[in-house]
This record gives sequence, structure tokens and C-alpha cells, in this order.
Amino acid sequence: MLPLLVGVVVILQGDFMLQNVQAILLAAGKSRRFNTNKTKLLESICGQSMILYQTKLLADLMIPTTLVIGHQKELIKNAIKKEHNESIAFIEQDIQAGTGHALKCTQHLWTHENVLVMNGDTPLITLDILEKLYQHHISTDSAITFVTAHNDDPNNSYGRVIKKDDTIEIIEACHLQDKAEHCCINAGIYLFKKSFLNTFINNINSNELTKEYYITDLIKVASTYKHSVEIINAPFDYIRGVNTLEELWACEQIKRSELIRSWMKKGVRFTAAQNVQIDISVSIGAGSCIGSGVHLIGKTSIGKNCTIDAFSIIENSSLEDHVTIHPHSLIKNTKIAKNASVGPFAYTRNNSFIDTQAQIGTFVEIKNSTIGSSSKARHLTYLGDTTLGTFVNIGAGTITANYDGVKKHTTIIEDGTHIGANNSLVAPITLGKNSYTAAGSTLTKNVPADALAIARTRQINKEQYAKKILAKDQKNNLKESKSEGKNKEQSTEFVAAIQITSNSDL
Ligand code: UD1
Ligand code: CA
Repeated sequence: MLPLLVGVVVILQGDFMLQNVQAILLAAGKSRRFNTNKTKLLESICGQSMILYQTKLLADLMIPTTLVIGHQKELIKNAIKKEHNESIAFIEQDIQAGTGHALKCTQHLWTHENVLVMNGDTPLITLDILEKLYQHHISTDSAITFVTAHNDDPNNSYGRVIKKDDTIEIIEACHLQDKAEHCCINAGIYLFKKSFLNTFINNINSNELTKEYYITDLIKVASTYKHSVEIINAPFDYIRGVNTLEELWACEQIKRSELIRSWMKKGVRFTAAQNVQIDISVSIGAGSCIGSGVHLIGKTSIGKNCTIDAFSIIENSSLEDHVTIHPHSLIKNTKIAKNASVGPFAYTRNNSFIDTQAQIGTFVEIKNSTIGSSSKARHLTYLGDTTLGTFVNIGAGTITANYDGVKKHTTIIEDGTHIGANNSLVAPITLGKNSYTAAGSTLTKNVPADALAIARTRQINKEQYAKKILAKDQKNNLKESKSEGKNKEQSTEFVAAIQITSNSDL
């Protein structure tokens, strides 16, 4: 009931907060400074493409949004559609002639009184900043309100906001001589009055040096024509732009620490928070403890009071309450029920299910298999395409031979079965309820319920074998030494590099 209520409050607030606003997200750029040949906007930050942080924020605020796309447009479109269906509009910028040109491409779509324009590479922007921007813009009735922050910008990544007397302009660092003197930077987030934009969008000229049209020139235009320009200041960390892999890394560090702090507040203990990797789509129950070097990835949910020990990786999996994952385990696409335990050094994958109280131990791999409640496979085992009933015990070193070179086959091990150590279960095969198998068996036939299956060669003990083999050895040695004595006089030996034919030559 609570999440529904919270949802309603957010929607109502959003609706109220940013009335008569539409958003334009600039996402057509070539991401040249990344040097990866890929658009940076789809790079992942805590498991989510960078651009989705902003599209989701705008969707939460119910602001109609248009994305300007160009470089790798199909990839971006697909990623957005997957998340938002058809609710976000796209417009193409055929040539990437700068942020001013990108905005101009959307002119025919300006339908709302205010146009919020954001760079698509600003993933840490918050609802609070947008709210403050909007409120200031409305209360001052400005033509432009934009976001600034303070930073001495050693990498020259940001345009500087320069105020002189009653004029204000933004100058890119590359065009500024005394840039070190200016530490008020432009965040790339602007709220324009539509009427101002319609009148002045064509006043931007291409820059002489770069031949690009800068959106930032609109600030100077407004100032020149005496239209009011307002700024709001925000903490630098929230408005960081991502132009390089180094800046991506910095943003991800911030986002990750935000996530970890929010889980800590909800009662999750991290023994070494600084080296845990956690995605935005992960949820963790109160009372759980996350060890050093753990990765929690994708759609993963961890129940209450779970222990995830050091260096385990859990991906797209769900764990109920009181589950223990011992160190160095890899859990992928697996569901684990209450009180079960896995590891150390275990690997579970491909739609596996481990039921309550089950124990999966050291060097055990579980693939596309169901492990029934209270069943155990604790040492050196591979179970593939297998269904285990309840209270089954799998002996150390057992494997299912599930692949015949063409197809995968299934193994069924019914309730209460005991598999001896070092068994090969050649699938397809069924082992009936409460059956037993002898250690070292290679089983190729079904085993009836309650039976003992033995599938190995029978042991033969050869009495007095040790004495016989010793006697044979001594006899052989005697023969050899006699024949060596005979051959010695005629033998050819090599001493150093000189060939000699008998002892007398020495
Ligand atoms: C821009 C600002 C700078 C500000 C900084 C904040 C300009 C000229 N400069 O610089 O003042 O401090 O952001 O982060 O605006 N894009 C297009 N089409 C294009 C070019 C870019 O859609 O033709 C998109 C990019 O995909 C990106 C955004 O616009 O999402 C910003 O472009 P980017 O090249 O990163 O601008 P900055 O150099 O960071
Ligand atoms: Ca940028």
C-alpha cells in the first residue's frame, strides 16, 4: 500500500512542480573524448545506461521529453524505447554542428511555455535541482534561468560564467585566456521561455574557431537585448558532465556511494563498502551483511538477514531471507529459498532453483537445475539439467553426464536418495525415491525406488602379491648384472668427448 501512496505523492508533486514545461535532452554528440567509438550516452553507470538517469527523472516529473539524437541514433532509440515504450519523442540532428544547432533542430516541437534543455551527459542531476531551477525561473519571470557550480576545472571541461557590470555570458574554456580566474562553471541545464527562444534562436552564429553553434551564446544574446537571465547554484558533484572515461569513473563512484549509503540507512551492513560493486536495480533486505569485494549486479534481490561473503558475485538472482553465500561464489540467474547456503567457490547458473535449507558446497556447479529442500551437494560436484527431490545427499565428486555431444539430457533424483562418492550419472536417468548408489559407480540405467545400484567392476584381492612381485624383481636384477659383466670388456663407452673401446685405453 505504501509504495502506491508514495507514487501518487510524487506524481502529484511533479505535476504541480513543473507546469507548462517540456524537456529537450541533447544526445546527438559524437563522444569524441571517450575514444571508444561508442556513444557515451549508453555507457553504464551502476548497471544503467547514462542517458536513462535523466529520461527517468523527467518521466517521474511527468515532463514531456524529446531526445535529440544523431551519432549511433538507432542504438540510443532502442535503449530508450525498451525503458519508456513510446513515451519519449526523438528528433534527428543530421550533422553534429553543436549544442545550439541541436536545440534549433527541435524548434517546431516547442509547444510549452517553458523549454528545459539539458545535456544528456549529466547523469547525477537531481529532482531538487530541477525544482529549484523551475521555482526561481517562475518567480523571477526570466527569459533564461540556468544552473551553475563552482569548480576550478583543471581539465577545461566546462564553460565559464562571466559577469561584468550588468552583462553575463558563458565562454568555453578553450576560448578563454585567463580561465584560471573563473571558477563559476556552466552545468549545461537551462530553462528558457519559449517566446525568447523563438525570437532569438537564429541569433546564434557558428563559432569562428570550431564552426559549431553554441547554445551558451543565448545567454549573451539575452543579456545584450536586456532580457533577464538568472542563475541557480548547485553542488558540483550533482552537475558533473561526462566527457571522458575518467569522468565516467568519477560519476559512477559517486552514484555507487549514494546507493550504498541509502542501503546502509535501511539497515544493510557493508564490511568494506569502498570495494563493493552494486547496481541501481539491486534491492537488499534489512539485517543483511555484504562482504568485501562483492558484486551485486542486474535485477538482483537479496532478502533480509542474508550473508554474502567476500568476493562473491550475484547477478540477476533472487535470494530469500537468511540465505548464506560463502566466499568466492558466482550466482547467476538463480533463485535461492530461505535458509539455504551456497559456497565457498560454488557456481550456480541458468535458471537454477535452490530450495529451503539446501546446501551447495565447495567446488560445486549447478546448471539449469532444481535442488529440493534440505538436499545437499557439498563437495566437487556438477549437476546439470537435474531435478533433485528433498533430502537428497550427493556424494563428493559426483557429476551428471548430461551431454551426449548433440543434446542435453535430464537427470531426476527423487526424494531421500543417497548418491555415493565419485558417481557418474549418465543422463537421461531417474533414480527412484530413497535409493542408494555405490561409490565410484557409472550409472547408465534407471534405479528403482529403495534399491542399491552398484555400477563398477568388482574388487579382486590377489593374496601375497607383494612377495611375489619382489621375488620376480630380484630374479630380474640378477640376470641383468650377469649379462652386464659379460659385455663389459667389449663395451663401447663414452668418456667426455673421446670414444674408447675398453678400460685399457684409459
Ligand atoms: C557543454 C557546454 C559547456 C558546459 C558543459 C557542461 C556548450 C557549447 N558548452 O560543453 O558550457 O560547461 O556542457 O557539461 O554547450 N550534443 C548534441 N549535438 C551536437 C553536440 C553535442 O546533441 O552537435 C550533445 C552531446 O551528446 C551532449 C551534450 O550535447 O550530451 C553536450 O555536448 P558536449 O560536447 O558534451 O558539451 P561540453 O563540451 O561538455
Ligand atoms: Ca559534456
